[in-house]
Amino acid sequence: EDPALVEAFEARVAADEFIEPKDWMPEAYRKTLVRQISQHAHSEIVGMLPEGNWITRAPSLRRKAILLAKVQDEGGHGLYLYCAAETLGTSREEMVEALHSGKAKYSTIFNYPTLTWADIGAIGWLVDGAAIMNQVPLQRTSYGPYARAMVRVCKEESFHQRQGYEIMIALANGTDAQKRMAQDALNRWWWPSLMMFGPPDDNSPNTARSMRWRIKRETNDELRQKFVDITVPQAEYLGLTVPDPALSWNEVKGGYDFGEIDWEEFYAVVRGEGPVAKERMKARREAWDNGAWVRDAAAAHEAKRAAKAAA
Ligand code: ACO
Repeated sequence: EDPALVEAFEARVAADEFIEPKDWMPEAYRKTLVRQISQHAHSEIVGMLPEGNWITRAPSLRRKAILLAKVQDEGGHGLYLYCAAETLGTSREEMVEALHSGKAKYSTIFNYPTLTWADIGAIGWLVDGAAIMNQVPLQRTSYGPYARAMVRVCKEESFHQRQGYEIMIALANGTDAQKRMAQDALNRWWWPSLMMFGPPDDNSPNTARSMRWRIKRETNDELRQKFVDITVPQAEYLGLTVPDPALSWNEVKGGYDFGEIDWEEFYAVVRGEGPVAKERMKARREAWDNGAWVRDAAAAHEAKRAAKAAA
């Protein structure tokens, strides 16, 4: 690559300019973005499954309507993230194929099962809360289409977080059985939510370069710390206990100290060994196969239209 072009690119990024699809960019920058944006898109799409599982069992019409809207939002997020990745020269088919063949990653969090209705509350509160923490800084990521996609995604995520926390409030103020259900959901979702932010900074191969290129604006550990600091008081308000005996307020750092994450578990889930990883991929492949007739019909319609236009 031409050193003058690289230097000019680095200077633009350092000056907080957005890089746009037709601008020159180093190949490694393009590759990093395709990797991160496509993983992000896959996470949104696979992320529809754990909650989709509860749409037919939502406890009221109101809850059902809200959940339906939220799951549809996630489908939308996935679609415009795929579009953002396509501006970098990769096709949607390639990305989907990479997901279905197990080559592409998606967030570890979606490989855990949703066992009770309280899990829907915990996912909105914790998982969408963690997603917002990670995505708000991405509104200033250096690649324009990704940054702009994040603006709308963050607005919708904020609604998702609130609907989840509201479910938790209802359960935490409910019967003893409901409180137990809320506590059990927190116990199971807490640690996997902290894992969403990725490996610790000193074990994160991509962070240093992605920070320099301003793809990432904050590191994995910085975001994880912020998430803990914001979420612990929310658990206290609910009267629930965060399942971490090492959790304690550290006056000097002005944040919470917390226990060691089980990184063995994290890496196992990244490798595709999560509790319901096989079911998730099976559901995605089936959805793709069952939708083949829609793609075929759309392509046939487009071919007819083009033939008419040419005639
Ligand atoms: N789940 C699965 N894989 C992960 C996770 C995770 N929670 N965290 C890190 N990894 C992977 C990385 O993708 C990377 O793999 P790769 O190099 O083979 O692609 C590897 O572990 C090492 O991690 P890092 O060097 O820290 O990778 P990176 O700089 O990409 O940081 C992060 C990971 C923080 C997830 C980043 O990619 C990011 O901010 N992505 C955008 C947000 C996102 O994808 N959110 C999805 C969940 S939120 C939602 O969908 C509602």
